[in-house]
Amino acid sequence: MCGIAGYIGPKVAAPVLTVALERLKYRGYDSAGLVTATADGLHLRRAEGRLRNLQEKLEREPVSGHVGIAHTRWATHGAPCERNAHPHLDGGCTVAVVHNGIIENHDHLRKELQAGGAVFASETDTEVIPHLLARLRRDGLDARASVRQACTLLEGSYAFAAIFADEPERILVARKGSPVLIGRSRPAADGSRELMIASDIPALLPHAQEMAILDDGDIADLRAPGTVEVEHDGAAKIPVFKRIEVTADAVDKGAYDSFMAKEIAEQPAVLARLLDSRVRGGRLVEPDLGLDLKAVNHIVFLACGTSWHASMLGKRFLEALARVHVEVDISSEYRYRNPVASGGTLVVAISQSGETADTLAGVRLAKSKFLPVVGLVNVVTSTIAREADGVLPLLAGPEIGVASTKAYTAQVLGLFLFAMQVARAKGLLPEAEELRLLAACAALPELVTATLADETAVVEAADLFAAAEATVFLGRGGEHPTALEGALKLKEIAYIAASGYPAGEFKHGPIALVSRHLPVIALCPRDAMREKMLSNIQEVRARAGRIIGVGAGDDPQLRDLCDLVFPVRSAPEDLLQPILSILPLQRYAYHVAQRRGCDVDQPRNLAKSVTVE
Ligand code: F6R
Repeated sequence: MCGIAGYIGPKVAAPVLTVALERLKYRGYDSAGLVTATADGLHLRRAEGRLRNLQEKLEREPVSGHVGIAHTRWATHGAPCERNAHPHLDGGCTVAVVHNGIIENHDHLRKELQAGGAVFASETDTEVIPHLLARLRRDGLDARASVRQACTLLEGSYAFAAIFADEPERILVARKGSPVLIGRSRPAADGSRELMIASDIPALLPHAQEMAILDDGDIADLRAPGTVEVEHDGAAKIPVFKRIEVTADAVDKGAYDSFMAKEIAEQPAVLARLLDSRVRGGRLVEPDLGLDLKAVNHIVFLACGTSWHASMLGKRFLEALARVHVEVDISSEYRYRNPVASGGTLVVAISQSGETADTLAGVRLAKSKFLPVVGLVNVVTSTIAREADGVLPLLAGPEIGVASTKAYTAQVLGLFLFAMQVARAKGLLPEAEELRLLAACAALPELVTATLADETAVVEAADLFAAAEATVFLGRGGEHPTALEGALKLKEIAYIAASGYPAGEFKHGPIALVSRHLPVIALCPRDAMREKMLSNIQEVRARAGRIIGVGAGDDPQLRDLCDLVFPVRSAPEDLLQPILSILPLQRYAYHVAQRRGCDVDQPRNLAKSVTVE
């Protein structure tokens, strides 16, 4: 959570940094701030609330300077007010710091620094860093040595950037546990380069064309006009710069009113791209995971939130196709158990961002038990991607809306292809079946397009039920995870108390909720569970519930039983149906949120990349 950015170059730093923050605001948006450095000292601007508040402040009180650091915050320590917004400075304004992560020993350090005369201005853990750096400088260390020494004293996780007032052409960056990238432009005619730092690739655009990822323990020293020195454990290290593949268009809303709307609409293209990378001549292309999948007899999925819902479908796919025993574990639970690590176990971490702290901790725990780990990730430069033994990239492109949509459907398809890969390794996937399943996958982009094209009933339902206090989602089999995911979307962006249940479980208690005020969204596609679902719908109807069915638009029984039907196309293979069934639920949450005046891209209290526990 939180995003950090920095710039050194010929441009005026403040506008460059506010664009970078715009691209990072999905990581937190409680407050924002920046500092620039000139020969006259450090120039600080901070504002509580959304980034536009900072932008307005900068219009009223512009800052000059070609070097600066900036931050967008998701509050952990201290309320989301201007006083607690980053950058933080020491009392003498000699150093400014932006930080992503948590300094766990901040209390102890704060007391020690206060005893030495430091006066703190905020309640944040971060503020200990500038005070510490200032003290180390006063003790005689140079800028880089003070950062090196500070890192030995800080406990917890961090990526921080510091600017010293007496060296206004330089930014120092340190990483331990939180991601940070160094970007640089192509060299100008005189060999100079623009330099950037950022928590994520989109914020490097369009100024940087190349980037290097800092590793835990790295300290980077960036100086005008474009040199980057990195050290690790006190020894020089050559940073590896690679071309940035993401384009500025991919991180722009374009003609859409929100990233969420854009990302929902992108799903046919996302699925087609993933299939294109994994199917050649009608046959499955198997990414090399460096593992003997034939020997795997137990798979543990680790994931949080939406990714956890995708992994529930992964379990179904693996059990159905590869007959492997699968456990689905919420990362924050797995990491605090002492899970049994037996031979033949493979851990698969599923994460859009690849930075989720709990999932990363689960990966590290599994590796400490010598279990092989595969990462199913969207951000291939992420920490999970780099620490896993094998990587399955989702290729969904940057997902910026806080509510995950296109990454979810890509995860589900990615898991289906992975299940096919395991089944093939185990000799359980005859060629004819492989061809049939891949043909079913190939039909998905068009079916998704057709399903998304018809949203009349979704809009009607949003008009009818936007004011509902609660909503229930019911599904069976593969549609149980869809019910959970539909409920999560509605909770997180429309702030409606929504719950998903396996429909067969509903009568064991939750059915008491049913009244004519409660919308019940029942997932009932034409799959093997249809008859059972129709009975469950009858049970709700008998209690005067308001029912929205999600299923085939031409299913007469469903139409008879429901107040409204969200039509979805039928997948040629039942296992793949959840990829289609979730689509109207994503759009329903979007329309309800809009009617309730909620910001769909930046829902309250949330951040996209959850890098704290
Ligand atoms: C919900 C959502 C979150 C994430 C969760 C895990 O729309 O986006 O529930 O799915 O925070 O994030 P990743 O997949 O990045 O590990």
